Amino acid sequence: MKKSQILGLCFLLNSQIFYAQKTTIIPEPVKVIEKKGSFILPRIIEISASESNSFTTNYLVQKLTQATGYKAFVNRKGKVSHIKLALTNTPLSDLGKEGYTLNVINSGVTIKANTKAGLFYGVQSLIQLLPHQIESNSLVKNVNWSIPAVEITDYPRFGWRGLMLDVSRHFFSVADVKTYIDNMASYKYNLLHMGLTNDEGWRVEIKAYPNLTIKGAFNAERVGYFNTFDPPAADEPRTYGGFYTQDDIRELVAYAKERHIDIMPEIDTPGHSLAAVVAYPELSFTKGVENYQVRSGEELFDWSGPHVKGYLDNTLNPANPKVYTFLDQVFTELAMLFPFEYVHIGGDECPKNYWEKEASIAELMKKEGLKNMDEVQSYFTKKVVNIVSSKGKKTIGWDEILEGGLADGAAVMSWRGEKGGIEAARQGHEVVMTPSQYCYIDYMQGDSATEAKVYSTLRLNKAYSYEPVPQGVNPILIKGVQANLWSEQIYNMRYAQYMTWPRSLATAEVVWSPKENKNWSRFTTKVEEHFKRFDAGEINYSTAMYDPIIKVTKDANGLPITDLTTELADLNIHYSWDNSPPDAFYPIYKSPISVPKGASQLKLITYRGKEKKGRLITISVDNLKKRAR
Ligand code: ACM
Repeated sequence: MKKSQILGLCFLLNSQIFYAQKTTIIPEPVKVIEKKGSFILPRIIEISASESNSFTTNYLVQKLTQATGYKAFVNRKGKVSHIKLALTNTPLSDLGKEGYTLNVINSGVTIKANTKAGLFYGVQSLIQLLPHQIESNSLVKNVNWSIPAVEITDYPRFGWRGLMLDVSRHFFSVADVKTYIDNMASYKYNLLHMGLTNDEGWRVEIKAYPNLTIKGAFNAERVGYFNTFDPPAADEPRTYGGFYTQDDIRELVAYAKERHIDIMPEIDTPGHSLAAVVAYPELSFTKGVENYQVRSGEELFDWSGPHVKGYLDNTLNPANPKVYTFLDQVFTELAMLFPFEYVHIGGDECPKNYWEKEASIAELMKKEGLKNMDEVQSYFTKKVVNIVSSKGKKTIGWDEILEGGLADGAAVMSWRGEKGGIEAARQGHEVVMTPSQYCYIDYMQGDSATEAKVYSTLRLNKAYSYEPVPQGVNPILIKGVQANLWSEQIYNMRYAQYMTWPRSLATAEVVWSPKENKNWSRFTTKVEEHFKRFDAGEINYSTAMYDPIIKVTKDANGLPITDLTTELADLNIHYSWDNSPPDAFYPIYKSPISVPKGASQLKLITYRGKEKKGRLITISVDNLKKRAR
């Protein structure tokens, strides 16, 4: 090769076309142009901002100083400005209500946006351009605090970017919820859906109905596998749980709002209402409810038939006028606490076996011309939607609210697949997609040999593969996507984080990034960088994406054959049958393997070259036999 050709090649390799991507922003922005050079953060950082004392500028100052030990000042007269945060005078139409531009050149950074939310998201991207140690809560030395030169234009694909935290099955303190909100903000989520009530607890103070939290917020403490616990003894203390006072709620709403996150309350009705029924037995007509207790994880439902049956009547009775007076008051107080435009009224998994035997329901059906139990629930939902709208709010409910006729104006959260969402959109209703097979982050994310057992699995690649607009559906009606963290098995915030990340990095990209910008291989490279950020920020996460996917079939003699794959293409699976822990020098899995004579266990681990990536997995041959299909 001639010298001029070599120089030309060097030039090309240095130009943006041949750069390996330097930026690892999640969710992937709309447009990123990577440039040569970088901005080295000075020890004294001057920031100019449209508003000097805004939450976002203070947030940026804190982020830029806590790990670096540098100083940052906002709007110091006569000083150069290294980082500019500018609200546009004339809105840039591309950017909409949440978009931003972010330009980094050798001498500094400029973020522009039409709105404060846009500036906040620009700041999140800027922080993600800094080395991962920026997430540390304490001083980190010997880091090159530089920001790669880049030109970014970015705005979200969907306006509803939610995570649901179920605070009923297990209660999470105000401090825990704030941590969760902080983590969400880093990835441009804008909605926290709080499941405030369920059979296991009523978690929000309602002044007109104090027993909801005096009696309804506490149960007997259990650990382990929910649904299988012994019922509490009559004299067992019921001190496990808690609730948010109205001041707590106001504090959380304000905390989230500063981070451009709304909080949507869910009051689950008419099913999943055991805590309310225990607190106020007059909400039911069923005999014996006065002896009910808030659920502590004992069996409550029979799922064997086509319709769920309750072993207790955990419902609000649609024929009982007191129920509507109660809900009117509850939604009056909630509407004052939560500024978000929607209230979630639940609607899921309502057992109707007690309604079928209940005289008051039979009378209601006759009077209202209701033909079946679905229509009874629909009658109830329509009345609740009217109550909610009388408080100036819109209603959203789980897709069961379609059954028996969808109430005018109600939006649907599609969780039993996409069917409900498609049907609601066909009827012209708004939809939030949260199909369990892509969005339920209470499911296991790896093999049951490493994960706390749950009845289903959602791996990272599946969460990432989700496309929220089904074919033939008017995209305008798809408001967005939510990942849901049900907390039956989630006993603390560290584990809530483990279940949330990295799957909610995938959902963040599903709901923010343009469809054509999604790229699994680039995404997982970025996820690895974000693992370092989580480590620096002391946020828990799962590394299950490194672990093998294990399928077991049977040979002609009915003996197990183990078939292994990985989510990441560049991993090798090493294995042993001799009880010793495999390392990078053990056999590499190439094709399905049979159990050798005498073996009692299979051990697996993944490596990238010589670097250990996955966790050591041990599965007994007996277990393989059980799995074989
Ligand atoms: C649900 O998962 N029951 C909405």
